Amino acid sequence: MAERLELFEDLNPPQRLLMGPGPINAHPRVLQAMSAPLLGQFDPRFREYMKQTSALYRGVFQTANRWTLLIDGTARAAIEAALVSLIEPGDRVLVPVFGRFGHLKVEIARRCGAEVRAIETQWGTVFSPETLEKAIEEFKPRIVAVSHGDTSTTMAQPLSDLGKLCRNHDAILYIDATATLGGMDLQTDAWHLDVVSAGLQKCLGGPPGSAPLTFNERAEKRIVRRKHTEQGLKAPGQKDGPGPVIQSNYFDLAMIMDYWSDKALNHHTEATSMLYAARECARVLLQEGLSAAFARHERVSRALVAGLQAMGLKLFGDLEHKMPNVTGVHIPQGVDGEKVRRALLEQFNIEIGTSFGPLHGRIWRIGTMGYNAREDTVRATLDALEAVLSRENYKV
Ligand SMILES: Cc1ncc(COP(=O)(O)O)c(C=O)c1O
Repeated sequence: MAERLELFEDLNPPQRLLMGPGPINAHPRVLQAMSAPLLGQFDPRFREYMKQTSALYRGVFQTANRWTLLIDGTARAAIEAALVSLIEPGDRVLVPVFGRFGHLKVEIARRCGAEVRAIETQWGTVFSPETLEKAIEEFKPRIVAVSHGDTSTTMAQPLSDLGKLCRNHDAILYIDATATLGGMDLQTDAWHLDVVSAGLQKCLGGPPGSAPLTFNERAEKRIVRRKHTEQGLKAPGQKDGPGPVIQSNYFDLAMIMDYWSDKALNHHTEATSMLYAARECARVLLQEGLSAAFARHERVSRALVAGLQAMGLKLFGDLEHKMPNVTGVHIPQGVDGEKVRRALLEQFNIEIGTSFGPLHGRIWRIGTMGYNAREDTVRATLDALEAVLSRENYKV
């Protein structure tokens, strides 16, 4: 007899306040947008929504780039799409590493067959412009791949001069703005950033699963010469580009461009509900205004920092370069960090972040991002942390 299949209980997750480094609680308007009726991917109304999404993200990325679109997947999907489409095997790629997500870009670039040079700085610090310039001059990379903010260390690398430097050395600059887009100023065009990508689940106030990406004509040129359209979709007599084929089909930006353009050439099936979510995230953000959203992240972060310091807790890293949306806090001596996180979750329904690699067991990370960057969420988190720490015999 066949085993009886268990159906488990109805889905009923607890209402948590997500104050870690992402995901955060999605904006209610975004959740509502996700429940809108599905449309076919070539329905004229859906194609219109795709165009609107591109236009809205031009506003969010502060760019006029034609190629501003979504990659279906979490933030690393757009990182992979950018790197696999830009890097030709043997290309030199420079990765300044100031946290876990720098190492991720090293790993992805290596998988793409790049000759990678990683330069590292101690976690909790960022690179000086001189160090970056020297590394670019010495290594002469084709591509420079950098995180804007690295949630693992809570640091943000200043970027405003790096684009020009890369251009002077004929390198393409890719920026991973997963953790900062919508929460910190990032001027794609004014700063000469060639390719920038993000994810929804942080300062954009959405769920994980869609990754906005923008790239300019410098990047487009490199990508288009590698275009190899799938056999089943090729027009009669259509020739492939002269460059080497992009090693991933799913993340092939040359084909994704044809899918998002008026050609509407079939590639993947666009993730309908995630596109609705991404579109609404951008609408919410642009309605508030970019400067107002950046100021709100700054203000709320200052409130959190003041509250933590008033409890006698010590903050992690170079505070001059701290992101305004994630704060690293040293776990006080004698306090069991995981026990505190568990108590916050089980007794107060509040999640804060643990940490990775060299910081594991040393710091907690508290996020104030997107929809959750508010005074009331900070107050609730500080009150709960104070109560839990007092029980742990930490003198607040
Ligand atoms: C800077 C940065 N890059 C990439 C990622 C990975 O994003 P995802 O987990 O959505 O793929 C994160 C997630 O925290 C991040 O902070």
